[in-house]
Amino acid sequence: MTSSELVGIISIHDEAFRKELFEAASEVRKLHYGNDVYVRGLIEFTNHCRNNCLYCGIRAGNTLVERYRLTPEQILSCCEDGYQTGYRTFVLQGGEDVGYTPIQIASLVSSIKERYPECAVTLSVGEYSKEVYRLWKDAGADRYLLRHETADATHYGMLHPKNLTLANRIRCLYDLKELDYQVGCGFMVGSPFQTPDHLAKDLAFLKEFKPHMVGIGPFIPHKDTPFAHQPGGTLELTLTMVALTRLLLPDVLLPATTALGSIHPTGRELGILAGANVCMPNLSPEDVRDKYTLYNNKLHTGAESARALSELSSRMESIGYRVVTHRGDHISKRSRKE
Ligand code: 5AD
Repeated sequence: MTSSELVGIISIHDEAFRKELFEAASEVRKLHYGNDVYVRGLIEFTNHCRNNCLYCGIRAGNTLVERYRLTPEQILSCCEDGYQTGYRTFVLQGGEDVGYTPIQIASLVSSIKERYPECAVTLSVGEYSKEVYRLWKDAGADRYLLRHETADATHYGMLHPKNLTLANRIRCLYDLKELDYQVGCGFMVGSPFQTPDHLAKDLAFLKEFKPHMVGIGPFIPHKDTPFAHQPGGTLELTLTMVALTRLLLPDVLLPATTALGSIHPTGRELGILAGANVCMPNLSPEDVRDKYTLYNNKLHTGAESARALSELSSRMESIGYRVVTHRGDHISKRSRKE
């Protein structure tokens, strides 16, 4: 498909067309993953961040955030809770926190892998050198999530401070791939100044980079950021981008993101019905969940992990899908038949 054809599709608002698009994406997903929805336990372990991204609620310049940092013991206890509940992937996500050194993160990863050798560990802690990524890979990390945010360098510059560049983001993504991580990139839909052209570029980048995972969610304004008064991304366009991503990368692992679940009561179900196949419930301790506020009105079940998982399972069953708790590796990285 050419870029102008993609721009055309992205700009269509016809309900019947979108319904067909979602059905086609769902069919393609079923070929590879059936009706299975994989779950990953998300541990938001620090909201300290050295960066000042204009859209993000935990940006360094936001002095109104109550900062927290979980200790390794607290993180391991989240893993234990998640493991007992059935999770076999732990995602450690945080701001770029200088209070956690690369060595400390490596030792955290090895402790988790020592205790739960059959579980996958995913890191999502931002931009580092290839040497640091190697250190973490050697410690046992399996996967890495780093959204590219937008594949257009000028647009990237409008969303980020000057010291952050698309070129470095992409360098990180290729380094991670070379190190044999399962790599996730992704972008926000409806971020300020975004045009259909930018979204077509995002899809072209996905096609070229061939990530194992893609995180796509609507931009949601946060009141204490420079983008407080910008409009948020829509459900419709986010679902369209999820479906197009599934069609472009048939076997990709594609989450129905928390942001999608935050703008509509059944946003995650709609994401699955548009081609997504992963959900990432929160395993963070309940008293810190409110503080990891990248955007306002974030989906918050308030439920402890076992209840949250059983609620999610019933929601998925209600639309004809089933939650499975095994590792859920990308097809190209499976060591055994799952
Ligand atoms: N709205 C939606 N998504 C956001 N993110 C950060 N801030 C926002 C926001 N205001 C996303 C970014 C980041 C991921 C962890 O969360 O895409 O990569």
